[in-house]
Amino acid sequence: MRLADCHNVADFRRLAKQRLPWPVFDYIDGAADDETTKARNTAAFDDADLVPDVLAGVAEIDTSIEILGRRSALPLILSPTALQRVFHWQGERAVARAASKFGLWFGISSLATVSIEEIGAMGDSPKMFQLYVHKDKGLNASMIQRCQAAKFDAIALTVDTIVSGKRERCARSGFTSPPRFTPSSALSYAIKPRWALDYVFREKFALPNLDTHVDAGTGEAVSIAGYFNTMLDPSMTWETAEQIRQDWGGTFVLKGVMSASDVKRAIAIGADAVMVSNHGGRQLDGSRAPFDQLREIVDAADGRIEVICDGGVRRGTHVLKALCAGADCASGGRLYLYALAAAGQPGVERAIAILKDEIERGMKLMGVTSVAQLSPERLRWR
Ligand code: FNR
Ligand code: LAC
Repeated sequence: MRLADCHNVADFRRLAKQRLPWPVFDYIDGAADDETTKARNTAAFDDADLVPDVLAGVAEIDTSIEILGRRSALPLILSPTALQRVFHWQGERAVARAASKFGLWFGISSLATVSIEEIGAMGDSPKMFQLYVHKDKGLNASMIQRCQAAKFDAIALTVDTIVSGKRERCARSGFTSPPRFTPSSALSYAIKPRWALDYVFREKFALPNLDTHVDAGTGEAVSIAGYFNTMLDPSMTWETAEQIRQDWGGTFVLKGVMSASDVKRAIAIGADAVMVSNHGGRQLDGSRAPFDQLREIVDAADGRIEVICDGGVRRGTHVLKALCAGADCASGGRLYLYALAAAGQPGVERAIAILKDEIERGMKLMGVTSVAQLSPERLRWR
């Protein structure tokens, strides 16, 4: 299979599976427990149908939106995801360049493999930093200050990882940050020579936004579950979030909000947006899907905070359904991560181009010329 054979996100998943050592593929593809929430995140979109108008004059359409205070060419954000140079040697650099080329928001994780400073200097595309609150308060302050200096456009505080989800695929494979070549897993890496040669001979693995303060995850190999459960602050509360918003002083997003009451609390502490998310099913298995929960969240938001529907998106029509259900924007991780792993920057660019094409085609077939026309009466729930 080659890049030219990829015509949708599922094709990129197949190509990524072909090219990655299985522990790395399973880290991306995997989720928590029985992975029922991950599956439902995408299946939820099948329970609502679009109702098109015809003869609406759609020769010219505008797919752009204003979100988090910046223009975006599409109603789609590339969500922050960790360890990207483990998936492909270009890592976050590839995603930043592709997002910039298409005029999209993208996010880097606290566990990014490229520094805040380097990403901050790349292109004028709006960029988000995803913050994990660590027990090491000096590290938290350092990341916020570095984002201020690098002129990041938003901080997204992730709030659904107070403990790690049960990542059974990673437990079986022994996947760690950085990857450890154990006797049981060494063969899985050795039989993927392109990946292995890149990983061994190109730029050394690093977590440059963390290794100023902590060794875990960089010098000391640790599972993601182990990192979460030993390094992140389990005592985080709404007061913590409000303090971080004040310390940051810029556009502030809460990522991982799922309840209507929490949306109201997010408004009360002055957050600008919530990402309705269950972390791609990687945390609480059995959690409701963001698309299923969306109407309740939008009602609670009442236009006083932006709502981003995060997770399960694999098609342009999923984005359109999320917007008809009231979201201001959609976002996703695997929708570009499989493509990154499969083919680096050309892969991510192809994936975004495909989703852009699907969004444009879907809008035209629905008879809408702007995102603002994507309203609830254009959706019917089965
Ligand atoms: C993630 N996600 C994530 N979220 C976050 O806040 N910080 C992080 O470091 C990561 N890392 C990460 C790695 C990988 C491999 C995946 C698949 C996901 C979650 C991500 O931001 C987003 O919420 C989900 O990916 C959305 O689900 P989909 O779009 O992947 O179905
Ligand atoms: C994950 C963490 C890094 O989902 O957010 O793997």
